[in-house]
Amino acid sequence: MVLSMERWRGKVAVVTGASSGIGAALAQELVEYGLKVVGLARRVERIEKMAKNMAGKSGVLHGLKVDITKTEEIIETFKIIEKRFGPIHILVNNAGVFEATTLIGGDIDKWKKIFDTNVMGLCVATREAIDSMNRNNVDGHIIHINSVVGHLVPFETVNVYSASKYAVTALTETLRIELLKAESKIKVTSISPGFVHTELIEATGLTSVSFDEFPTLRPEDVADTAVYALSTPSHVQVSEVMVRPIGAKF
Ligand SMILES: NC(=O)c1ccc[n+]([C@@H]2O[C@H](COP(=O)([O-])OP(=O)(O)OC[C@H]3O[C@@H](n4cnc5c(N)ncnc54)[C@H](OP(=O)(O)O)[C@@H]3O)[C@@H](O)[C@H]2O)c1
Repeated sequence: MVLSMERWRGKVAVVTGASSGIGAALAQELVEYGLKVVGLARRVERIEKMAKNMAGKSGVLHGLKVDITKTEEIIETFKIIEKRFGPIHILVNNAGVFEATTLIGGDIDKWKKIFDTNVMGLCVATREAIDSMNRNNVDGHIIHINSVVGHLVPFETVNVYSASKYAVTALTETLRIELLKAESKIKVTSISPGFVHTELIEATGLTSVSFDEFPTLRPEDVADTAVYALSTPSHVQVSEVMVRPIGAKF
């Protein structure tokens, strides 16, 4: 199989949650491959700072402020992206939050925040990106940053977060079938990482535990996995990649 990122050079890639962690690493890597990357996040100033540091690279990075839990904001932002930068070729649904919760006596606001961000935000962004691709005859690529816990439940406190990632697993497959029925050549890929050393994992408190017990990937490892899926020839669709650090217990 010949892997190449050439077909994407100069094209528009939207990366949600580009202000930190996996999204920041992938946005920067796509700029290195010559793409016009639009990074979305609430802390847009972080993306603007990265963009400055990437001046002179073959691609370019732009930041737009969006709260991915706000439907109207997403719809408006996708209109702005197409108008300002051109048709969307790639969408990476990466924005996500983790909150340790339980169902018994659980915090309902945390459940809603997790589902609004990890599931509803992904659904709305995907709808808008596919609409742009279809109107512009673009055989694009949708990538969902899922999780190992979208396929298994290692312990109870992943609770609603794990449920949100199981939803992403289902939505990857239902989208693949929808695209198949529409005879579309748009690809959909789910990437399911184990632990990655990012701000999200710091928020779990696991950094206070030995990393020998919970080894982690680097954000760049997940970004490289996305680039692999993007670089496959037009007849190859990478549907699911699970990528774990060596020594991971689950
Ligand atoms: N770290 C891990 O171990 C791990 C493992 C498997 C899967 N994942 C998944 O990987 C993805 C990225 O996570 P990460 O580890 O890179 O975490 P991170 O460093 O905390 O980054 C999360 C990103 O999501 C954005 N985000 C969160 N809520 C948002 C909102 N309401 N509106 C817009 N953007 C929002 C954040 O931007 P702002 O705060 O600036 O808005 C940030 O850019 C997530 O989907 C996560 O579930 C992570």
